[in-house]
This record gives sequence, C-alpha cells and structure tokens, in this order.
Amino acid sequence: MRSLIAGNWKMNGSREETRLWLGEIRRLQGTSREAGQEPAADLLVCPPFPYLALAAELLAETGIALGAQDCHPSGPGAHTGDVAAAMLRDLGCRFVILGHSERRQNHGETDALIAAKLKAAATAGLSAILCVGESAAERQAGRAEKIVEKQLIESIPEGFTANRLVIAYEPVWAIGTGLVAQSADILTMHRHIRERLRDRFAGQAEAVPILYGGSVKPGNAREILALANVDGALVGGASLVPADFWAIASAARR
Ligand code: PGA
Repeated sequence: MRSLIAGNWKMNGSREETRLWLGEIRRLQGTSREAGQEPAADLLVCPPFPYLALAAELLAETGIALGAQDCHPSGPGAHTGDVAAAMLRDLGCRFVILGHSERRQNHGETDALIAAKLKAAATAGLSAILCVGESAAERQAGRAEKIVEKQLIESIPEGFTANRLVIAYEPVWAIGTGLVAQSADILTMHRHIRERLRDRFAGQAEAVPILYGGSVKPGNAREILALANVDGALVGGASLVPADFWAIASAARR
C-alpha cells in the first residue's frame, strides 16, 4: 500500500506560521514535481482546531489531506468547548487523530471514550487515526504487546469498518524524546498489530495502514519506513519544519 505521512502539529502554530509552513510545503511540492521526484506517499497535515479552516484553504488543490487532533464522542449539541466530528468534516477534514497518548495522559482518556470517538468520527465520514503504544515501564516489564493488544481491542468499537481505520503505533517513551524504538521492536510490534487486525477484520486487515510515531526525523525515516508492516509515519516535532517533513515524506518506500 502507499505510505501515509501525517504531520501532527499538536498545540503549535499561529496564523502566520500556518501560512509560512504550508506555503513552504507547497513550494517543496512544486519543486519536487518539476524534478519528477514527488514523494511516494500520501500526505496529511493535522493543525490545531483554530487553524483548520485556514489550512483547508492553503491546502486546496495540493492533494495534501487535512486532519484534526481530536473530536467529541457525540454529535453537535450542548458540549461547551468541544468540537464535533461533523464540524471537522464540514471544514474539509478527512482524518482525525484519536487516543493520542498526550490526551490519554493529560485528559484521562480511556479506551471506552476513545472507542466512542472513533464511532463519532466514522459516522461523520472521517477516518480515525487510532494511537496505541506502551509506556517505558510497560516495555521494561515485557508487557508492550499485551498493552497494545488491549488498546486495540477496547478502542475499536463494535461494527467499525476497516476502511475508516488507521493505526499509529507510538511508544509513549519515544514521543518527543529523540528516542526511537529499535527496528527489530518496531517490526515485531507492527506484525503483532497486523495479526490482531486480522483477528478483527479478516482479509480487510491488510488494507489498514499501520503508522509508526515517536521521534521520526529525516535521519531515521528511511530505515523505519522500509520495515514490513510500517505503512507510514505520524510525525510530531519534525512536522513543524517543512523541509524535515518533506524529507521524511520523500523517504517513503517506492
Ligand atoms: P514526535 O511526536 O515526532 O515529536 O515524537 C509524535 C507524535 O506524538 O505524534
């Protein structure tokens, strides 16, 4: 399958920076197009809520998809301060990141809540990027695969269809730390995730992209993206530097 390279801007940016970063991405896209060297990957940018509308304008006609970083589990209604999946779809989003470890940690999100958000996302016509991953302590205790398996089972709601699903394996200890999982461990975990997806979705599991996330940079992207069952990357810090994001996209396997 074609790789998916997703930029998770987290809580970063301004109108000015959104214009600057996406302008630079458009320029890099034009240059590589002219040189016949476009990345062999689908690209996705996930800015904070306030900049989604501006990003949608700036990304029009580029073929680069837009995504959000969260949504509420219910449809529009009396939920002060929240954002419904249907609103994201209305803005032009195709994806929404759900269950990111920063939300699990900072907002106490449980697998049950995340499952409800996946359902809301699919109902609104969005694809969900479900984040899973173990902590350092869980890995040291030899429980990484069990933890990820539990997250997969409990965060994917009943009746969810594989064609609305992307998984992002992000070891919590590798996010924003500069530490990257060993290739052998990424390989083992992504195979494990694929097998669990087969249990759930049978033949359709092969088409579910499994992204790796956690300190992906231009210097390590090629090795990570070449691994079996690594169908792309969820990039945080490096996605805020357009040249780095582009270099990571360009490292996707052909
Ligand atoms: P990072 O973040 O690339 O800065 O480690 C990845 C993520 O949290 O999605």
